[in-house]
Amino acid sequence: MAFCFCFGVLFLLSLRTASTLDVPTGVLQMECRERYFMIAVGLSFAGDKPRFEAVDSTGVHAITEEYAAECGYTISLLPVLGHVELRASYFSCHTNDADDEVFTFNFNLIVTRGGKQATYALNKTCTLSLPWSPREVTCEVNYMEVSVRSEATCPYEENGDSAFKPVLYSDWKVMFQRAEDQFLPMNLSEARKLGYVFSLTDERLVFRTPYEQPHSFSTEVNGVPVEVVHAVLFSRQSWVVLVVDLLAACSMHNGSYDGGYMMWETSELLHSLVSPLNETEVSIGVNGKLVEKKVAEERGYTVEKINTTLQVSIPYKAEGGYRKSFVSRDLYEYYVFRLYLEQISVDEAEIAARLRFHRIIVTPLLPCHIFTENQTLLRERAFTIYLGGVPEDVMLVSIQLNGQEFTLPLTNMSTYNLTEVLHPNGTHGYTLTVLFDDPVVKLQFSRKALALQHILNVNYTLAVQPGNEPYYHQTAVTALTRVSPPAFDANCSESSIHFKLDHRPFDYFWEIAIGSDVLTSDLANRRGYIMSNDSQSLQLDVPLFTNGYKYQNVTLKGFSGTFEILVRVRETSEVQTSTVKTCLFNPPEFIMCSTDGRVTVVANLSLPIPSGGSPAETSLKDKSCRPKDAAGTRALFSFAVNDCGAIIMLGRDSVTYRNEIIFSSVRNAENLSSRNRVMLQCTYTVAGLHALFSAYKFESETVGVGRIVRSNRIIEGPTVEPTSASTGHTARSVTIRPRYQPSAKYIKVSSFLKNLSNKGLKETSQVNVFTVI
Ligand SMILES: *[C@@H]1O[C@H](CO)[C@@H](O)[C@H](O)[C@H]1NC(C)=O
Ligand SMILES: *[C@@H]1O[C@H](CO)[C@@H](O)[C@H](O)[C@H]1NC(C)=O
Ligand SMILES: *[C@@H]1O[C@H](CO)[C@@H](O)[C@H](O)[C@H]1NC(C)=O
Ligand SMILES: *[C@@H]1O[C@H](CO)[C@@H](O)[C@H](O)[C@H]1NC(C)=O
Ligand SMILES: *[C@@H]1O[C@H](CO)[C@@H](O)[C@H](O)[C@H]1NC(C)=O
Ligand SMILES: *[C@@H]1O[C@H](CO)[C@@H](O)[C@H](O)[C@H]1NC(C)=O
Ligand SMILES: *[C@@H]1O[C@H](CO)[C@@H](O)[C@H](O)[C@H]1NC(C)=O
Ligand SMILES: *[C@@H]1O[C@H](CO)[C@@H](O)[C@H](O)[C@H]1NC(C)=O
Ligand SMILES: *[C@@H]1O[C@H](CO)[C@@H](O)[C@H](O)[C@H]1NC(C)=O
Ligand SMILES: *[C@@H]1O[C@H](CO)[C@@H](O)[C@H](O)[C@H]1NC(C)=O
Ligand SMILES: *[C@@H]1O[C@H](CO)[C@@H](O)[C@H](O)[C@H]1NC(C)=O
Ligand SMILES: *[C@@H]1O[C@H](CO)[C@@H](O)[C@H](O)[C@H]1NC(C)=O
Repeated sequence: MAFCFCFGVLFLLSLRTASTLDVPTGVLQMECRERYFMIAVGLSFAGDKPRFEAVDSTGVHAITEEYAAECGYTISLLPVLGHVELRASYFSCHTNDADDEVFTFNFNLIVTRGGKQATYALNKTCTLSLPWSPREVTCEVNYMEVSVRSEATCPYEENGDSAFKPVLYSDWKVMFQRAEDQFLPMNLSEARKLGYVFSLTDERLVFRTPYEQPHSFSTEVNGVPVEVVHAVLFSRQSWVVLVVDLLAACSMHNGSYDGGYMMWETSELLHSLVSPLNETEVSIGVNGKLVEKKVAEERGYTVEKINTTLQVSIPYKAEGGYRKSFVSRDLYEYYVFRLYLEQISVDEAEIAARLRFHRIIVTPLLPCHIFTENQTLLRERAFTIYLGGVPEDVMLVSIQLNGQEFTLPLTNMSTYNLTEVLHPNGTHGYTLTVLFDDPVVKLQFSRKALALQHILNVNYTLAVQPGNEPYYHQTAVTALTRVSPPAFDANCSESSIHFKLDHRPFDYFWEIAIGSDVLTSDLANRRGYIMSNDSQSLQLDVPLFTNGYKYQNVTLKGFSGTFEILVRVRETSEVQTSTVKTCLFNPPEFIMCSTDGRVTVVANLSLPIPSGGSPAETSLKDKSCRPKDAAGTRALFSFAVNDCGAIIMLGRDSVTYRNEIIFSSVRNAENLSSRNRVMLQCTYTVAGLHALFSAYKFESETVGVGRIVRSNRIIEGPTVEPTSASTGHTARSVTIRPRYQPSAKYIKVSSFLKNLSNKGLKETSQVNVFTVI
């Protein structure tokens, strides 16, 4: 009985035979919905450009975009949900309709994978779950479809017989109306060419039209935009003229966004031709399925009736919708809700009409805030930066650390690290750790804070998936760490102390000083230090008896020598730290002439003392000045420079105090005074002795130069001479010279020096003033 009014012959038939391949389980989903087939194919299987063909007895029909809108198919690619969805109306052109009760849809799925096309022949049969209402309208995404009970269209009914049931014979004509305009009538083949489909099923008359057709018109009902196509079908059958008004009217509201809600509007009454109804019930659903009232309430879906306008509100993050990230210079997100709405018009306790909407509502681009948090803890000596608020469809693909690119995953985890942090709400984050000591971290010295600034600029490259659209997020972190002043390493050697300092890049902030003098190579030269300074380190060898030493605990067994290196802040000369090294030295012979005028000598007296004699039996010129200690062949003397019978010799720039060790045993007196005399002398610069002349107190600015003089050799003590810079010292600080040569050629004895000898040095028991010419 059913007559399907199809125009399939107008389209090229594909002769391709479908394979009998099976679609793997899990990727294909076919469901019967109230008024359509829902077919979903996983994109992982279907690729991103799957195609569909409808198959029926007339052939194979490719479902193109245009053809879909005309024939009742809707294809949606939903990458976020991971599938492509095909909705086929039960009244779509190539569905087999058995009594408007059982519908069978045969179709081909064509996927291209690895350059190869594969066709899968599929079918689905659905049995109606909900009886048809007298009038049903579907406002699909791409078309409007109206079906009316065909009996109802016929005002004449004779004894319940359906003899007058209209049949869409070729003599049917359609006349479109637009407001006041009337178009010329056309036959149904002509209408089909324009994209309109009329068909008569077992019990229903179906009319379908894509949007924005030449005969459609837009109007506004209570502020709601509505698109209307008004078709008047008529047929003259012998003496009866049948006229059917078919009206497709759908709300074309685009949706709006306000205060966290996505809103969409329609009207209870979409066209004046549709008779005003007693009551309207509205149900909301998502993705083509209604949800229960309770569930809708829980999710916050609401419908509000304002006069005759129905306003649907969906919280933008409500369950059922989905979000997507988007890069347009900045990172944005938008939310998509595939609204499904059913509007039931009840007329005198009978459902008169069902109106269904498939609408996609989208929020505007909302800024998406990716943030970084400085979680650095100085005591860990590492930067810790948390990149948070990263949406689930955004991945970190690489990072630039101070301009250096690192792709993920990071391979070298020794000094930097990246861990992903997942949150239950779908966002995720990344924790980056970079040690302060990593070579990639920039250093800057902060003079003010006396600290080192570690700087890390991070440029994150994030990719929005799918598509990998890049988005960059930058942050810069710094951390100040206090720096210790340079510290020397020091070692003792037999006759010197060795200092070493490994250079650091920021050491220029400090200067090195010995006493009050800054250590320069010039100073080192003048004082006899051996210095070498290269890019790696500074090395300083300080020979014994050079200027700067302090001696303590002098005994026959040796003495301790202490040398101090000061580290001063270059800008303020403030001493910040010092390295003090004390070494024990044990030369066989030595003489020290201290700044306070003390002579300390350990001399080997093996030559002057006759066999059987003892060094303990020796004395200085003044016989009361005896050794402090003696053992073996050596004796230790300690005395005031101008005491114990010293002879004072004045040079042009220097004063020399001379004494002699005498073997006091009477029986051998002449022996000592012959060849092997041991003379001790200390030479001070006149310039350094002004305290002597002003305060009559012996106080030299520098230590004196000591010498142990034998007739054939000199034992030299502190060697910093005012007149000549001394160099190379032998290990035992003993210099062998052929003959003693006084540095002064002549000296004038001035009256104040004569006074001096009487007043300033009055404790001396004996003073001899020589004039050397
Ligand atoms: C429909 O598909 C099933 C397998 O899913 C197959 O067995 C059956 O033959 C198909 N029917 C038609 C008419 O193609
Ligand atoms: C419809 O009208 C066109 C042009 O007026 C005509 O060529 C065609 O034969 C008609 N078709 C039918 C089925 O009447
Ligand atoms: C809906 O949006 C489209 C595209 O932005 C626009 O062209 C159209 O005019 C809008 N319709 C209404 C009724 O606002
Ligand atoms: C509802 O309709 C009445 C009467 O037409 C009008 O006065 C009122 O402003 C309307 N309310 C709204 C919210 O549009
Ligand atoms: C709606 O129908 C009910 C009975 O089903 C009736 O009582 C009521 O008056 C009607 N209302 C309108 C506005 O027609
Ligand atoms: C890892 O980093 C350390 C320190 O930066 C470096 O010494 C090492 O060579 C690196 N290893 C690799 C495999 O890159
Ligand atoms: C890197 O991460 C691992 C595991 O979380 C951790 O054991 C290691 O200490 C981290 N390395 C750095 C340099 O933070
Ligand atoms: C997601 O959870 C994390 C951790 O609880 C939170 O910091 C972040 O703000 C949340 N993001 C959103 C969009 O709710
Ligand atoms: C971050 O990296 C991207 C890609 O290399 C670059 O285009 C951008 O300018 C960088 N941003 C900054 C602030 O360096
Ligand atoms: C980051 O944290 C460190 C350690 O708490 C702090 O010194 C620094 O000032 C912070 N801010 C920036 C921008 O690096
Ligand atoms: C001191 O001696 C140690 C061990 O021999 C050596 O490692 C270090 O470099 C030396 N330091 C100096 C300043 O010579
Ligand atoms: C000198 O000797 C005393 C007593 O034996 C000792 O306490 C002190 O540490 C010594 N000084 C040095 C610099 O060796």
